[in-house]
Amino acid sequence: MVGMNGENEAMKALTIKEALSWAREELSESCERPQFEAELFLAYHLKKERTYLLIHENESVEDMEAYKKLIQRRAANEPYEYIVGSASFYDIHLEVEEGVLIPRPETEILIDLVSKIIEKEKITRIAEIGVGSGAISIVLARKFPELRVIATDICDTPLKVAGKNIAAFGLTGQIELRKSNLIDNVPETIELVVSNPPYIAEDCVLESNVVDYEPKEALFGGKVGDELLKQIILDVKARGIKWLACEMGYDQKEPISEFVNEVGVESIEFYKDLAGFDRGFVIQFT
Ligand SMILES: C[S@@+](CC[C@H](N)C(=O)[O-])C[C@H]1O[C@@H](n2cnc3c(N)ncnc32)[C@H](O)[C@@H]1O
Repeated sequence: MVGMNGENEAMKALTIKEALSWAREELSESCERPQFEAELFLAYHLKKERTYLLIHENESVEDMEAYKKLIQRRAANEPYEYIVGSASFYDIHLEVEEGVLIPRPETEILIDLVSKIIEKEKITRIAEIGVGSGAISIVLARKFPELRVIATDICDTPLKVAGKNIAAFGLTGQIELRKSNLIDNVPETIELVVSNPPYIAEDCVLESNVVDYEPKEALFGGKVGDELLKQIILDVKARGIKWLACEMGYDQKEPISEFVNEVGVESIEFYKDLAGFDRGFVIQFT
């Protein structure tokens, strides 16, 4: 409880109402919605729905020390998803851990755009660069049972975690994981490449919950930020693959436009995220 002091008092069992009040106070500086997160963590800790807490506010909380540890991790800015080991994305939940990017809602737009191309062009063989938790490949494979995906990553932890998620959804027959820089180790015939690569500039100042916890390899794309995006464009063109769909940073439309004009493509269409920021592009090569 707020203001509790002394060993005995600290160990005293708290009611749900008291525990939430303590947690709300602890989270008030690190979280935008401390009450909401206090409830999420208590529901997770008690393995109950959040509504249970409202109806049983005078019940005492079992193993208060474990709940306190969860709250203290969150108060130190650790992302909710790493603490509970799971992230919700599109229509699924994915296992995540430190070393793997927490999938972001804006990436769902990339999936919808790619889905339209897959449907229209009857595409069955694609590659994903930078699989992370497996978010993009898993959602696409679930939508299109005929689709075969080769998904690469340069880091071991994403490949391990994506492997667990792919197996959990029974998709090992559809998605093959491969350790590779971009598509260097993907010699197979591919019709489309999709990627949400690291695209942030090295000197960009990020919030503590991102920069202190999420993997640098998933965030930073180089000194300027768009270096990997440009390399992906070059590689996909050189391989004669027709389609490329990528997420990018809100300030990268101009440099990417200039770059593709130099490189030469059939067409490029940029798309925005729900907040109205430029967020990615779809290129059709000749
Ligand atoms: C922004 S994360 C995207 C993860 C996941 N696709 C998603 O959208 O949530 C970028 C991923 O690319 C991987 N990566 C970074 N450089 C790479 C490279 N040169 N080749 C392949 N993967 C790379 C990182 O390890 C990371 O998992």
